[in-house]
Amino acid sequence: MQASAKERMVVRRLDFAFTPDMELVFVKNDPEMSFTFLGAWIMLPYLEPYLIRTMRDALPEIRDLQLKEELKRFCAQEGEHFKQHAKANDLIRALHPDYEALRPLEAELDAELKEFTRSKPLAFNLAYAEGFESMTSAMARAQLEVGLYDRTDSPLADLAKWHVMEELEHRCVAFDVYDHVAGNWFYRVRKSLWAQGHYMGWVNRFKAVLKAPQTELFARYDTPELAAERKAFNRRYLSLGLPRVLNTYMPWYNPAKVGLPEEFEQARGHYSHVAAALA
Ligand SMILES: [Fe+2]
Ligand SMILES: [Fe+2]
Repeated sequence: MQASAKERMVVRRLDFAFTPDMELVFVKNDPEMSFTFLGAWIMLPYLEPYLIRTMRDALPEIRDLQLKEELKRFCAQEGEHFKQHAKANDLIRALHPDYEALRPLEAELDAELKEFTRSKPLAFNLAYAEGFESMTSAMARAQLEVGLYDRTDSPLADLAKWHVMEELEHRCVAFDVYDHVAGNWFYRVRKSLWAQGHYMGWVNRFKAVLKAPQTELFARYDTPELAAERKAFNRRYLSLGLPRVLNTYMPWYNPAKVGLPEEFEQARGHYSHVAAALA
């Protein structure tokens, strides 16, 4: 199943119907988690182009024709992701005057990631890409299994589900390219951990700006009943996801060998169908 999943990487062009009044708490009853994702998504129009630049820089080093093709599909999928996220981000940024504070942060992040491309070794940038990809694909498996994005009608949940499904579909590419070009396990883990800390630092900066004017929205979910429900749901979600993230640091980790939930195949079929209808 895993070997054929690598070959069936599909570039889907979708067009989500975002609206200014869409539900921002798109993870049911969980504003903290929803805004953590929203913070992460502000990064994507800068982070995903950085991943694409990194992969393109690696292309001349790759001698395996199939891996070259997979790399190009990875770039095409990431290119579609950040375009859709940028559309959602534009609407979200317009929701509150305080959100103008996002723009200088976005410019700072963009400049920092462009400087990584210019000045860091290719092995570093590839390890960063793999650190991001392995963490997100490990959590994506758990997200699909628990139906994290199936519990609200927000188009943001739809966007998230499509995105994490394709993150799983291309989960092997950054790993294989790193392995082909750099190959050092210890360096990968060391730099992945740094990259994940760097990423989460930025997520929290963006989240803080998004959250600041939303005290009323957050207060609506601040009840003992909802807190208990969140705790139970997240215990199951994190108990599935976190051990898988830990597994990505092991010397024997290979994303081609991980088990995938049946919800992954269902999501693939669904979004292939939606993309075909739009084509
Ligand atoms: Fe992506
Ligand atoms: Fe990705």
